[in-house]
Amino acid sequence: MLPIPDHRIKSRRYTFTCFAAVLLTLSSCATGSKTQTQAARRGVVADKAMVVSAHPDASNIGLEILRKGGNAYDAAIATQFALAVCYPVAGNIGGGGFLVYRQHTGETGALDFREKAPSAASRDMYLDSLGNVIPDLSLLGHLAAGVPGSVDGMVKIHEKLGSLPFAELVQPAIDLARRGVVLTERETRMLNNAKAQMLAHNKHTPYLVNRQADWQPGDKLYHLDLARTLERIRDKGRDGFYTGETADQIVKEMQRGGGLISHKDLLAYNAVWREPIKGQYKDLRIISMSPPSSGGIALLQLLTMVEPYDLKAYGWQQAPTIQLMTEAKRRVYADRATYLGDPDFYKVPVSGLLDQNYLKTRMSNVSLDQATASSEIKAGEVPIYESDQTTHFSIVDQFGNAASITTTINGGYGSMVVVEGAGFLLNNEMDDFSAKPGIPNMFGLIGGEANAVQPSKRMLSAMTPTIIEKAAKLYMVVGTPGGSTIITSVFQTILNVVEHGMTMQEAVAAPRFHHQWLPDEIQHEPDAISPEVRAILESKGYKLKQRNRYGAVEGILVLPNGKLEGGADPRGDDKAVGY
Ligand code: DON
Repeated sequence: MLPIPDHRIKSRRYTFTCFAAVLLTLSSCATGSKTQTQAARRGVVADKAMVVSAHPDASNIGLEILRKGGNAYDAAIATQFALAVCYPVAGNIGGGGFLVYRQHTGETGALDFREKAPSAASRDMYLDSLGNVIPDLSLLGHLAAGVPGSVDGMVKIHEKLGSLPFAELVQPAIDLARRGVVLTERETRMLNNAKAQMLAHNKHTPYLVNRQADWQPGDKLYHLDLARTLERIRDKGRDGFYTGETADQIVKEMQRGGGLISHKDLLAYNAVWREPIKGQYKDLRIISMSPPSSGGIALLQLLTMVEPYDLKAYGWQQAPTIQLMTEAKRRVYADRATYLGDPDFYKVPVSGLLDQNYLKTRMSNVSLDQATASSEIKAGEVPIYESDQTTHFSIVDQFGNAASITTTINGGYGSMVVVEGAGFLLNNEMDDFSAKPGIPNMFGLIGGEANAVQPSKRMLSAMTPTIIEKAAKLYMVVGTPGGSTIITSVFQTILNVVEHGMTMQEAVAAPRFHHQWLPDEIQHEPDAISPEVRAILESKGYKLKQRNRYGAVEGILVLPNGKLEGGADPRGDDKAVGY
């Protein structure tokens, strides 16, 4: 075990408060941060119920459902369908995702509505005759799409956990689609950037493209085909998507563009209830997503690996804190590349990966004097027991139920393919498979056998929708998009609150850093690491690389007085609303 050096660095909490004020857009620095109460640095605080999502229209629709007596799961379904309309870059009915839930009774569970490979998919489908990966084939166009899971997911959530009629939960999204959505500056930029690729990968002109001119902030986007598709889902549930007109439209679209999704694949798609991953960090009980997401296992591995160290005393974004978190991340992502995949196809050694002794041994060669080289790290010898652009939203209702949902079409606007006549984008989730062992995917992640393409298999995910209990009561609901960085962003956000005393809003806004074993570098947001700390880290052999801001963490924290604090990520148009 690494000895805790006695030259601990004093916490720089107040320095941080000023440092990150630009991001936080809170007024803490201007008014003299030391005298600031934590209350002034909080996000939106509500008495009873809260929705935090990536778009104000979706958050408001979710809240409306809660106000009229719906529960967190009703609100989640309404928010998911609303995001499919107002946030097409990631919100979807053409993608998939995961729900982690905790009911007010304490019952927990998870729904896997991850996309599946079409039955005609094959291991080497993205390789040329020489065995090389064909650039972009798993990323753009019809072959990139997996069989969508979101609609079956929403139907299954409703069957088990919903309380209001399903039609009432889909209707607000239909109304929004017909009323039109006002484009924000950010969305305008993203849509205009995607224009050329959308034109290249569709035979028709998708309605998301403005052919005449670029979109301008304030323009209204009407989703009329999507409104009709949503009406079919409203009236027929899963049959409104997986059979009949919508299914015909998807299959026709596949035929037009050489894709593989068939009627049989759509009929066979089935979201699956799974046991969430559960474990302890100090006095907190972590409940997170199980395989086919790597998120829950990786998050618990990370938390367990840093638990013995006094990160609070080392201080936020100080060299030893960054080193310990980085060394844990390096080891965890190496395990991920070897051991994680769809549990229906590959036996993931869950207990072994979470074994306390195993994780202790993994950290035993960490030194604060010198970085470990990733080339020296391989997946661990896991003990075998008998027995592999996104959006997140967090909801807590007036009854104390919680829903944590991360949903995705993978890249921004997914495969860029809009199903003609049906008005929605198909995912490019096939890129989350390992197209070839050792060759990185879009997020630089590598994998092997566990996550190889197989017919009807689910591709490995990093999505980490998480719920945390403290003293057997609900404490936090959290998650984020960000591909490979999802796991480390959730990890960092939890530590920001638990170890560094931040409010929920501060924790989601704070600048982040990431390491994923390979490439062997600490990737960090522009203001995440001070020049002094950077110099220390570099002197110990760490490579640092600045990158654009990433992720959009949406969190809800239950305050000691029982009120709810929403943390909406200021990196986007994200919004916390409550009552
Ligand atoms: O499931 C996964 O891990 C990825 N498809 C998530 C993609 C993502 O977060 C992109 N958004 N920024």
